[in-house]
Amino acid sequence: MFDSAIYTQRRNRLKEQLESGLILFLGNEESPMNYPGNPYRFRQDSSFLYFFGLDFPSLVGAIDIDGNRDIIFGNDVDIEDIIWMGFQPSMKERAGEVGVSETFPLDKLEETVKQAIQQGKKIHYLPPYRPETELKLSRLLGMDSDEAKKNASVELITAVVAQRSVKIKEEVDEIEIAHAVTLEMHTTAMRMAKPGIYEKEIAGKIEGIALSSGFNISFPIILTINGQILHNHYHGNVLKEGRLLVNDSGAESALHYAADITRTIPVGGKFTQKQREIYEVVLNAQETAIQSIRPDIKNKDIHLKAAKTIAEGLKELELMKGDMDEAVNEGAHALFFPHGLGHMMGLDVHDMEDLGEDYVGYDENIKRSDQFGIAYLRLAKELQPGYVVTVEPGVYFIPALIDKWKGENKFTQFINYEKVEDYREFGGVRLEDDVLVTEEGHQVIGKTIPKTPEEVEEIAATD
Ligand code: GLY
Ligand code: MN
Repeated sequence: MFDSAIYTQRRNRLKEQLESGLILFLGNEESPMNYPGNPYRFRQDSSFLYFFGLDFPSLVGAIDIDGNRDIIFGNDVDIEDIIWMGFQPSMKERAGEVGVSETFPLDKLEETVKQAIQQGKKIHYLPPYRPETELKLSRLLGMDSDEAKKNASVELITAVVAQRSVKIKEEVDEIEIAHAVTLEMHTTAMRMAKPGIYEKEIAGKIEGIALSSGFNISFPIILTINGQILHNHYHGNVLKEGRLLVNDSGAESALHYAADITRTIPVGGKFTQKQREIYEVVLNAQETAIQSIRPDIKNKDIHLKAAKTIAEGLKELELMKGDMDEAVNEGAHALFFPHGLGHMMGLDVHDMEDLGEDYVGYDENIKRSDQFGIAYLRLAKELQPGYVVTVEPGVYFIPALIDKWKGENKFTQFINYEKVEDYREFGGVRLEDDVLVTEEGHQVIGKTIPKTPEEVEEIAATD
């Protein structure tokens, strides 16, 4: 946990931002796998962690703006809990660690909320993403759960996004800690990517690296020889010479800050000429994008720059043709690069996605495009110092999409479908790094994880 002053400052700032009302942050509950006593690993709600820091279930944080009170609702343990779970500090002691002096048992929450409603105060809360939170809100507020969801406070969402987007040094340090373990996950995968091994053996090994460090993974590992399937969580294939292995994985630190890195490895440790050519197109796009990062530039413009670099690279390989400015403008490159350049990262790997992507990545100056490809861009708005963003372009050969577009004669002025057929079995390449926006420009987070073809081949050659 950070110093208690950090949590107090964050809550005070929220009071200034919202001016009036009662703010509720509902912490998460244990989530059962197959029966209540057998839960998934507990993961606290990220906004609760940000403002109230305590990392255990069944808590509600409240901020009474008008009365200038910060309160934590939660129950002290009883003798049965102590028998099964061991000694636990009191709620008062735990709340004190995050600068909160007022605590009440959970059954006092309803009364507090009712009183606030009677006094005409607005109840501010974030959109629920777990059914039990939805149910709790619905009961507390006396409305059905759809209505409770709809009434989430836009003022609170906007205020939380404004705070959580800008990382302080302590948060960047945590992301670096997560990154150091992620580096080991990726170099291990590079060494293991030999013909005959199963994806699951590598995925299990690298997840084990995160867990044995006392961390977790920041999202389910994507480790696949079918990298053309963007979020492929299947790990049952055996690695074969001639395939590329996409490894998109990251650790989550003990304080729940994420790292998110992608590397693409040639099975057997040597890129073929064809693989290397596509890999260099992606590498060039990624480096161009990273070099463009600085305050006040729109991430959408960086996305488009990466898309143009990819399109030009593919034109050199005769996969695309014609005017690449026009091709990118019309979205033809999305046959090969059908997703966005990246997202914010912090306490969530897709930071604050539960609050609504458009509140996080867009604003009044920039609205989401509905063009295929760029429509998936999670972060389009201007970058600011303190933002941590991912930069993750890719080139993929997706047979179903190729067939669809070819059948529709789509973008025949920009796409050389005959040549594309030669890459049908290619798979995909994605490269991803995490970048801090600084006053001067940017800083790639963490030590370099092997990335050039030579660096990857060198690590892959070691045991
Ligand atoms: N690393 C997975 C994603 O960014 O969606
Ligand atoms: Mn990512």
